[in-house]
Parts: sequence; C-alpha cells; structure tokens
Amino acid sequence: MFPGNLLSIEDLSVPAMDEIFERAAYYKAKDRGANFTALKGKNIVLSFWEPSTRTRVSFELAARKLGGNVIDLRPDQNSEKKGESLEDTVRTLGSLGANALVYRHKVPGLFGKIAGLVDFPLINGGEGCYQHPTQALLDIFTLKEAGVVLSGLEVVMAGDILHSRVARSHFLALPAYGARMTLVGPPAFLPPELVPPGMGYSYSLDDVLPRGDVLYLLRVQTERHRRLFSSSAEYAAMYGLNEKRLAALKEKTFVMHPGPVNLGVELSRGALHVLEKVYPEKILIQKQVQNGVYVRMAVLDLVISGRMMA
Ligand code: CP
Repeated sequence: MFPGNLLSIEDLSVPAMDEIFERAAYYKAKDRGANFTALKGKNIVLSFWEPSTRTRVSFELAARKLGGNVIDLRPDQNSEKKGESLEDTVRTLGSLGANALVYRHKVPGLFGKIAGLVDFPLINGGEGCYQHPTQALLDIFTLKEAGVVLSGLEVVMAGDILHSRVARSHFLALPAYGARMTLVGPPAFLPPELVPPGMGYSYSLDDVLPRGDVLYLLRVQTERHRRLFSSSAEYAAMYGLNEKRLAALKEKTFVMHPGPVNLGVELSRGALHVLEKVYPEKILIQKQVQNGVYVRMAVLDLVISGRMMA
C-alpha cells in the first residue's frame, strides 16, 4: 500500500498528529496575506460520493490556499455511469497526473482495498460509518487551541454513536492523548458491543452530563437508518442539549458538534442562542469548521510531500 495514505486515525501516531497540528497552527497564523506554494503544480482530486459541505469545501479551500490545482470529480458525472469500476477510475486518475485523491464514500473499507493499486495518496474525507480522520484531527486541534489539556479530559459524546464515523475516529484519537470518553445515547444507537474496552457508557444524558469537560453532540443520521426512536421531540427531550441542561454543565464545559446540526434535535435553538450570546467561549462549533481548513492544509501538505510521519 502507498505509505502516505490517510484512511484512518490508525495510520497516525501521536507524533504524526502533533506534526499535523503544528503545521496547521503555522498555516493559521500566516494565513492573512500569505502566498503559500506547497502544492504548486500538484493536482488534488476531490470526489465525494456522499453529500458534504464542510469537508469538501474546506479541502478545496485548503488545496487552493496552498497553490494546488483542484479537480472536482463528481460521481454523478463520471464514467461509473458507463460501467467503469472504482479501481479503473482511481488508476485513470493516476495516469492523468493526480497527486492525491480526497474521497467520501458510503462503503467502509472500499478505498483501503484499492489503495495498493496506485502510487499517489488517498485521503479519507468520511467513509460510511467507519472513519472520518480529518474531523477528529480538527476537533483535537480546536480543543488544543482553546487551551484544553487533553490528558485526563472527560469527553461526554452524545447521540447516534452507532452510525458515527466521527465517533469511531475519536475512539482512537482522544484516548491516544489520554482523554477519557463516556458515550451516551438511546440503546438503539449505543449497542454495548460497540463501546471500546475501558470506555464508559450510559443511556441517560442527565446522569453523565455533569462530568464532562467537553460535551460532543453527534448528529442523528436519519439517512442511514429507519427511525430508531419514536420522534425527534422524544430524542430532544432525552438526549438534546437544551437550556435546562446547559445549567447542569460544568462551568467551563465546551460544546462541540461535527455538523451539520439538526437544530431542535441534538441542540435546541434556545440553548444555541444562550451559548452564542452569553457563553460564546464555550461553543466551538464554528471554530471547528474554520479550523478544518488549516488542518486539511497541513494534511494535504504533509501527505502529498511524503513527509507525513507514520
Ligand atoms: N462534519 C462533516 O463531515 O460535515 P460535512 O458532511 O458537511 O462535510
């Protein structure tokens, strides 16, 4: 397999993640007025078989800010429609001079199987319910930027754990830095066999809410399942962050969400309003989005130059 792929957080050691964060901080600090050239002459193909706003746009911005050429290969318009296999598509991109392919796909493990066929890096921009490594990286970068010490940090992750690639990337990334995770959600979203060894879990948000230094809300992914709870209102009542639950958070708890947020389900409009107007330092959701650009600049730079550590 090409050594520089980023398919999973498993591909990254802590020093490798630290190097990405250092590079991202450099790009963020120098962004205004800078003329970066790390990807000058490089062709970065973006191909997203599943919908995306944040990841796709931030990868495109990241590549452009570094001087790269961005090729948007739209799956609804490529030759797959004429019977071309994914292997053939990826090999063809190599022949055309691709220097990296950033992909999103619903089938877990598909790109891992074809990674050995090409000699340019594949970068996972979200894979089914399996992995979303750059989301975990940008989340940790955002926490570090907020001054959070990860060792001993208590992260309460609430919601649709079952269908979450973000959760599965964090199962590897946060504990690697010494953070502790408690998972919470309705039983249908949190089968005990999914919980990594040593990780806590609960079916009551109110029981675990007061222990979190970070409350990480996950989107209910209704596109991946038939409704597994009786109504959005019932979910919101049991697992949504509302104004009443805001009062149960520790004074310095940070609130995160990978987006897009189902407003009124995982997070009430009232709670969002209070967080934005009264405690803007606690809500990191827009910072996560903004930092996605810098973390993805770092990833593209290190992966395409072949300098990313194992
Ligand atoms: N967090 C995230 O992956 O968002 P998008 O689906 O909009 O890319």
